[in-house]
Amino acid sequence: MSDRYLVIGNPVHQSKSPFIHAEFAQMCGQDIVYDRYLVEADQFDHTVIELFSQDLKGANITVPFKENAYRLADEHSVRAATAGAANTLKKLSNGKLYADNTDGAGLVRDLTANHQISLTGKRILMLGAGGAVRGVLHPVLQQNPEQIVISNRTVEKATLLAKLFSEYGSIEGSPYEALSGHFDLIINGTSASLHDQVPPVPESLIHGDIVCYDMMYGSGDTRFNAWAKSLGAAKCIDGLGMLVEQAAESFQVWREVTVTDTSSVIDKLRASL
Ligand code: ATR
Repeated sequence: MSDRYLVIGNPVHQSKSPFIHAEFAQMCGQDIVYDRYLVEADQFDHTVIELFSQDLKGANITVPFKENAYRLADEHSVRAATAGAANTLKKLSNGKLYADNTDGAGLVRDLTANHQISLTGKRILMLGAGGAVRGVLHPVLQQNPEQIVISNRTVEKATLLAKLFSEYGSIEGSPYEALSGHFDLIINGTSASLHDQVPPVPESLIHGDIVCYDMMYGSGDTRFNAWAKSLGAAKCIDGLGMLVEQAAESFQVWREVTVTDTSSVIDKLRASL
């Protein structure tokens, strides 16, 4: 019988994970089935416990349950612990539930492997201070950037996050209006694009050598990337590659198999948008 995996969330109908993991399984010769599973907010814990007590081998966890998944697990990776959230659950051979978070590794893999953009020694502006940003900070800091500055509308959240991660590298919070100096890379981890808005980044920060990365993606440029492009940003990347790379990391956690070439999956997804 094939090993069973799920993506669990609410909503979950839009998730591209079943397609991505089916592609990986075919490429790597792995016998798995991977489906969507919709769960109501008050049913998450007991549903997940029940599914894993049956034949479930692993799950991706999506909104709004990543923190619940983290709390439910018996063991945690460092990247899940620093994120305080898990997007990947795995049933270990001893029956315990292991929580990991592959979002940050997915972002780093997309930037470094797919786009040949090193983060080492770079000055990075991170926009937003919600779960999306917290989820990626540890892997990004592990690349040894010169500094990360976090800006957020509610500046206290940015300062708090910076304090939380200060043991892992040079990181500080800043209000948008106080941002200055040269940044090599801006990563948009806000949900502003969902409201067709752009975070209030001073236009003077966008220059001809800057790379802008939006964790969101869509059929055309995201609102943020369109804004950055119009101001002359050198390169604008959306989060589709991050989506595929975080899935490849999850696949590796579950199957102990490395997906070496994700480009065909990214291309197929891009064509389907
Ligand atoms: P997620 O888990 O996706 O990070 P979240 O925790 O709700 O979602 O966080 C959303 C982030 O986007 C927050 O940093 C939010 O800023 P506030 O903390 O000030 O609310 C940010 N955000 C949402 N809409 C925004 C907008 N229009 N402009 C700037 N920042 C925005």
